[in-house]
Amino acid sequence: MSPFLITRTLPEDATGADLRADVLHGLTRTPKELPPKWFYDARGSELFEEITRLPEYYPTRAEREILLARAGEIAAATGARTLVELGSGSSEKTRHLIDALLPGLEDYVPVDVSESALRGAAESLEKDLPELRIHALVADFTRGLALPGTPGPRLVAFLGGTLGNLLPEERATFLRSVRTLLAPGDALLMGTDLVKDEATLVAAYDDAAGVTAAFNKNVLSVLARELGADADPDDFEHVAVWDPEREWIEMRLRARHALTVKFPELDLAVPFEAGEELRTEVSAKFRRERVRDELAEAGMELAHWWTDEQGRFALSLATAV
Ligand code: SAH
Ligand code: TRP
Repeated sequence: MSPFLITRTLPEDATGADLRADVLHGLTRTPKELPPKWFYDARGSELFEEITRLPEYYPTRAEREILLARAGEIAAATGARTLVELGSGSSEKTRHLIDALLPGLEDYVPVDVSESALRGAAESLEKDLPELRIHALVADFTRGLALPGTPGPRLVAFLGGTLGNLLPEERATFLRSVRTLLAPGDALLMGTDLVKDEATLVAAYDDAAGVTAAFNKNVLSVLARELGADADPDDFEHVAVWDPEREWIEMRLRARHALTVKFPELDLAVPFEAGEELRTEVSAKFRRERVRDELAEAGMELAHWWTDEQGRFALSLATAV
C-alpha cells in the first residue's frame, strides 16, 4: 500500500498571521464579521460532519442523491484521470464519484484548510483503494492554487454548496481562479444549494439539537486558542436568518449582553453592545440562471444541471470556454 502524500502550501505561521489580519479587519468594523474558514479546526470539522447527519440539514443528503444518480454520466462525460476536490472535508460523498471514475482515475487531489479532515479522508480512502494515488493539499482555495502535475483530463469538484459561503465578489474571483486550473477537456463539478422556503432553510442552519450553534461558536474557541481571546461561548447566541433580497442565510453570533473581548496578543479590545451581532458566515442559495451567469462571467459554460428529486440542491458540470 503506498502512503498518501500530504503537502502544506500554507506556511506554518500563515494561519496565525492570516487570522490576526482577519480579526483586526473584521472585528474593528461595523457590522463585525469574520470569514468562515476559521470554523474548521479539528473540532470544527467534526462538528460539520455531525451537521451533515442532522435531520434538518438536507443539503448533504440531496447532493449525495444526485451524485449516486449521475456519477456514471459524470464519469462518461469527463473521462477524468485526475480528480481535484476543493474543500473536500471528509470526502465521504466523493467516494461515489471516485467509484464511478475508476479504473480510469489515477490521482485524487483533495484540498482543504483542515489538515485533520484531509488525514482522516486519505486514511480511509487508501485503505479501500490502494491503487489510487492521493496527494492531499493543506491550502486555502481563495489564495490561488498550485496543483501537482497529475495526468489529464482533470475534473475539479467543489461540493457541499461551499461556493455559497463566499461573498459575491469573492465568488467571482474564486471562479476565475478555478477557470485557470482547467485545460481544454477538463471540467468543473459544483454543488449549489437552491432557493427554497424560508422555514426549511432556517431549520437547516438552526437545528433543534444545537449542533450548528456549537459549530458557529467553535470560532470563538479558535480565537481563544490561536490568539488568546477571552470570548466566552455562553455570552453569545447562535443566530441564523434568511435574507430574501440577497438570497442567503446569514450565520451570526449575538452578544447576550454588553461585553468586551480582549485579544492580549493583538493589544486589542473588541467591545460588543448588548444584542450586537458578529457575522460568521453567509450561505448563498442559488437559481440555475445565477450559476450559469457566474460561470459564464468566469469563462466557463454550464453543460449539465442536475437536481435531486425534490429540487432542493443542484449539481452542475461546466467546461472551460
Ligand atoms: N465538501 C464537503 C465539506 C463541505 S464543508 C462536503 O460537501 O460535505 C466546507 C469544507 O471546505 C470544509 O472541509 C472546510 O475545511 C473547507 N474550507 C473552507 N474554507 C476553505 C478555504 N478557504 N480553503 C480551503 N478549504 C476550505
Ligand atoms: N457549505 C455549508 C453550507 O453552507 C457549510 C455550513 C453548513 C455551515 N452549516 C453551517 C457553516 C453552519 C456555518 C454554520 O451549508
